[in-house]
Amino acid sequence: MKLFDVYPLYNTTPVKGEDLYIYDDQGIKYLDLYGGHAVISIGHSHPHYVKMISDQVQALGFYSNAVQNPLQQELADKLGAISGCDDYNLFLCNSGAEANENALKLASFVTGKSRVIAFENGFHGRTSAAVAATDNKSINAPLNNQHDVSFLPLNQLHSLDYELVKGDVCAVIIEPIQGVGGLDEPTTEFLQGAQELCKKHGVLFILDEVQSGYGRSGKFFAFQHHNIKPDIISMAKGMGNGFPIGGILVHPSIEAKYGMLGTTFGGNHLACAAGIAVLDVIKEQNLMHHAQEISAYFTAQVKSIPQVKQIKGRGLMAGLEFDFEVGELRKKLIYEKRIFTGGSSNKKLLRILPPLTIQKEHIDVFIGALKEALEEI
Ligand SMILES: Cc1ncc(COP(=O)(O)O)c(C=O)c1O
Repeated sequence: MKLFDVYPLYNTTPVKGEDLYIYDDQGIKYLDLYGGHAVISIGHSHPHYVKMISDQVQALGFYSNAVQNPLQQELADKLGAISGCDDYNLFLCNSGAEANENALKLASFVTGKSRVIAFENGFHGRTSAAVAATDNKSINAPLNNQHDVSFLPLNQLHSLDYELVKGDVCAVIIEPIQGVGGLDEPTTEFLQGAQELCKKHGVLFILDEVQSGYGRSGKFFAFQHHNIKPDIISMAKGMGNGFPIGGILVHPSIEAKYGMLGTTFGGNHLACAAGIAVLDVIKEQNLMHHAQEISAYFTAQVKSIPQVKQIKGRGLMAGLEFDFEVGELRKKLIYEKRIFTGGSSNKKLLRILPPLTIQKEHIDVFIGALKEALEEI
């Protein structure tokens, strides 16, 4: 049987990972500044993470959501404490798209309405409502077009007001830092204003923290840079350090009802063990503070490279913008300098999404390699 061929692949086969490094089947060592797409939060194969998952799978890998699972409560308690969102309620699922799908569905249940406001260049995943709220026609099938979604430019409060006044909107969904779209950000003024407008019109305000959450921006959630309190927060990538787990945090004003949301695999024992291990390490290694400090060093070093026209993003969710398309540069970095970086829909942007355990020496290696690569292309 062949694989359904939907991914253009780099010609490398990683077989082992250790903190910032991955090793391929030829024994070649790569510096991972892509984190498998912002997924690797605490470093590849962290010993505490490996032990927690190994111990759990030996004890009990899975049972359904029909029974008591104290690991879910432990995860919720630790997540509440570290994020400062302990008054929210946690619903667990398996991926970022699923988190947003549940967030949008919940907003529709609560408000009894169905239109969604999303933003230009936003990305929220591949499932039905999530992909409909994603500003990319080429990944929306006719089936997805049944959703009623309006896309607005970022940072235009008057456009948002104009739409919400119509009274048919269930949710406004927004990334506090756009990931796939290329690291553009809504302003504090816009986010606070949008929250006000949502309150005024009875619309739920959903912050998609799938990529920006879990300490990546230097705070646990990126919206926490803006002094707002969303109705629903969606999370996934950094949450399991590669183990598939996602979730939503639901504001206490939203009441749960049996059967409202549900999943077979979400919140299973093994996923919870992975999620708890991640939170333990973020806390013990003080990775949020580290992300803040090390990103300041990163920015200072990048400023020594004149070809970089702009540095976008926050913390360890960074984008380096050039005045040329970076496809060739990324290939050179992977195949010759052995460094993984990310791209985005902005073809001139190099995305840097390393594990939060990155150190100055890794940054120095990258800066040296980038300078060389820029001279060579
Ligand atoms: C902001 C954001 N939301 C949602 C998703 C979808 O997550 P997943 O691929 O886990 O479904 C992504 C994935 O890149 C993302 O960056």
